[in-house]
Amino acid sequence: MSWEDLDKKHIWHPFTQMQTAEKPLAITKGKGSLLFDKNGKSYIDAISSWWVNLHGHSHPYLAKKVNEQMLNLEHVVFAGCTHEPAANLCGRLKKHLPTNQEKFFFSDNGSSAVEIAIKMVIQYWHNKGGNRKRFLALDGAYHGDTFGAMSAGARGLFSAPFNNYLFEVTHLPFPENEHILEALKIELEKGEVACFIFEPLVQGAAGMRMYSSEILNKMIALCQEYGVLCIADEVMTGFGRTGTTFAMNQLHNQPDLICMSKGLTGGTLPMSITTCSQKIYDAFLSNDLTKAFLHGHSFTGNPIGCAVSLASLDLLEKQECQKNISLIIKSHKAFAKEIEGHPKIANLRQTGTILAIELKDETSGYTSDLRTLLYKHFLSEGILIRPLGNVVYILPPFCITTEELNQIYSATKKALDL
Ligand SMILES: Cc1ncc(COP(=O)(O)O)c(C=O)c1O
Repeated sequence: MSWEDLDKKHIWHPFTQMQTAEKPLAITKGKGSLLFDKNGKSYIDAISSWWVNLHGHSHPYLAKKVNEQMLNLEHVVFAGCTHEPAANLCGRLKKHLPTNQEKFFFSDNGSSAVEIAIKMVIQYWHNKGGNRKRFLALDGAYHGDTFGAMSAGARGLFSAPFNNYLFEVTHLPFPENEHILEALKIELEKGEVACFIFEPLVQGAAGMRMYSSEILNKMIALCQEYGVLCIADEVMTGFGRTGTTFAMNQLHNQPDLICMSKGLTGGTLPMSITTCSQKIYDAFLSNDLTKAFLHGHSFTGNPIGCAVSLASLDLLEKQECQKNISLIIKSHKAFAKEIEGHPKIANLRQTGTILAIELKDETSGYTSDLRTLLYKHFLSEGILIRPLGNVVYILPPFCITTEELNQIYSATKKALDL
């Protein structure tokens, strides 16, 4: 049996209706921004493989660092043991984070990073005493697929079978303008609010919805006036996507906790971190074990993941990479200007290296027919883009070339005339 037949026979793919799904693309190789199928056809990975890839596929420097670490120490239990790659990684990340972030808790995917932040907040208030139990989040939020993360996320198609099992969260309107501050104040005045969780500046899964750093700054300040903890979910926005290493670098108010994953390892290995301020950490210190954060995963602090994260930071911090990020931002801006006002475009928006083109469509939403049409169109043009309903977005690896970007733009222009 061929490996593709084995796939068909055994593999249950994510976010997929297996009965009606078309055959998946059989990818056999990746290099730079390109993915190659078994026939050698290339596809530009315009969405960085679910927003994870920073420096291109199969990067030789990252591969070398993975190999070196693998031959030295591949994994060790992280309770009662530690290792140099983990400690060094925290030291390096600290320099990029809002200055109040002091402590680092490792896990292995974005949903877990969020789950951990939520558990930390719940136990923070438990350890402190009092009655703060309510969670605030934003309309359209996506924080992952585990139960706590799903609870914080918007209710809809993806959560429907589970809604009865999710804990209650108050979803505030999307912060389009400063009216959000009145809505937030009303909720804060009701009392008992434990936390406000948000995707800073860009809501990814909701269709790359974007909002301003000024409004978010004011929301955080208001929450802090009421003693409410703030969680910035930077799982998608982290590591340069919004033009700064973290989206929170564009704000002066600092969150109490930050979740990161995806680009952390340059998109090579599953790893995530939840960071927090000293204030959060201190609430768990006691001679009493029950006050400790009794949470962990088998692969917590995996040394190979840490080594490759350090290597990815080496590349990200290089002038060449920062120059590429600026180039992507500039190219997106010029392209947006070119297509601005097109009759098929409902909305055009950009934050950093993320450009989103929302098309006019009566059946808008994740299941829109337009989505399938667009997906196939881009594949036929040698480009991998998974539109979010009627939203086409470009979120490329930072190594993408001008020629590759131009190819994506030209296919996007054709898509507008479909
Ligand atoms: C903002 C945000 N948080 C959390 C997650 C969940 O991450 P993971 O898919 O690694 O569990 C995602 C995934 O897209 C995300 O965009």
